[in-house]
Amino acid sequence: MAVPFIDLSRLVQRVRAGVLPAWTECFDRCEFVGGPRVGALEKKLAAALSVPRAVTCANGTDALLIGLQALGVKRGSKVALPNLTFWATFEAVVQLGATPVLIDVDPDDLQMSLAELKSAHDAHRFDFAMLVHLYGWASRDLREIRAFCKERAIGLLEDGAQCFGVEAFGEPVLSKATVATLSFYPAKVIGGAMDGGAITLQSEAHEKYVRSICNHGRSDHYSYAHVGWNSRMGGIQAAFLSAMVDLAPEIVETRRAAAVWYRERLSAIKGVKVYGPPAGVSENGYLNVFTVEGKRGQEIVDALKKAGVGAARTYPEPMDAQPPAKGAAILHGDLVHSRRICENVVNLPLFFGIREDEREEALAALRAAL
Ligand SMILES: Cc1ncc(COP(=O)(O)O)c(C=O)c1O
Repeated sequence: MAVPFIDLSRLVQRVRAGVLPAWTECFDRCEFVGGPRVGALEKKLAAALSVPRAVTCANGTDALLIGLQALGVKRGSKVALPNLTFWATFEAVVQLGATPVLIDVDPDDLQMSLAELKSAHDAHRFDFAMLVHLYGWASRDLREIRAFCKERAIGLLEDGAQCFGVEAFGEPVLSKATVATLSFYPAKVIGGAMDGGAITLQSEAHEKYVRSICNHGRSDHYSYAHVGWNSRMGGIQAAFLSAMVDLAPEIVETRRAAAVWYRERLSAIKGVKVYGPPAGVSENGYLNVFTVEGKRGQEIVDALKKAGVGAARTYPEPMDAQPPAKGAAILHGDLVHSRRICENVVNLPLFFGIREDEREEALAALRAAL
């Protein structure tokens, strides 16, 4: 039996019947950019994430760019970020003319290391930092990282592209973030029918700035307070996402159960190190993450693919290994943990609706590959 790495259609089929009439209405009313459904989605997102404000935009990368600008990042700023993340986190900093300061990750929870962040600040005195809630969980030091940034007046952006539905220390993970971002790339836990993103904010001033900058920096239709971007959502995407957010509790619960199912079985296999949320954090089941002692991740993935199991490597290389990072970033310390993880990491199929027999098949192929 072939097992795909992801089969989005199982989720899309669940919302299809509810979304199609809403899409017909969008066509009839020509709700293509902005409109009432976008406003309603922003309210629904804010409620689901327990944040005071959410502003939608065109994708998660724009959300990062715009969120960083809201914090004050500009040409010449230094921005600390983890060496293990998706490239967009790095890209947004460089697009603004700022310099990334690459920080190693904690070897246990794989999130940006608090100790490394502290020593990097002593060495490089950056004014901004990005914490990525990677792999569908969050740092065991989340509260300490926020407190450290506050104490040192470091503007902190939280990249929440992978963490919809994660709870940390008794509350939704983004609820206390000054500025956080989301991606609705279709393969995310809550994904759209096209690219999409959002920025969550605490302050009214930040919201006003972000709403303007997402819409060309407008202060009025043909008056501009800022040089902004065109980064907006329309009714078609908002209608689809609204149905996804309604289904979020079930999506998160079933994905989490599948992630736990894998972790219990993988941790019983000799030589496999499986990763997951630290105590106090509940995951959303975004990704299955493990390494195999003495083997390169790619060997395992090649063997799994040969057996018909779609496996992946998130991520095969850290930020500092990418050619455009050479000379463009400050590398703090030896970055050994992020580099090691990239060399060895493997992900088995994990998506909404994955069946137990498919997970069994993936595990059997892994055992054979070992
Ligand atoms: C951690 C992280 N940041 C940023 C992004 C960028 O989001 P998008 O693809 O919507 O631009 C993604 C996902 O693709 C991501 O995983």
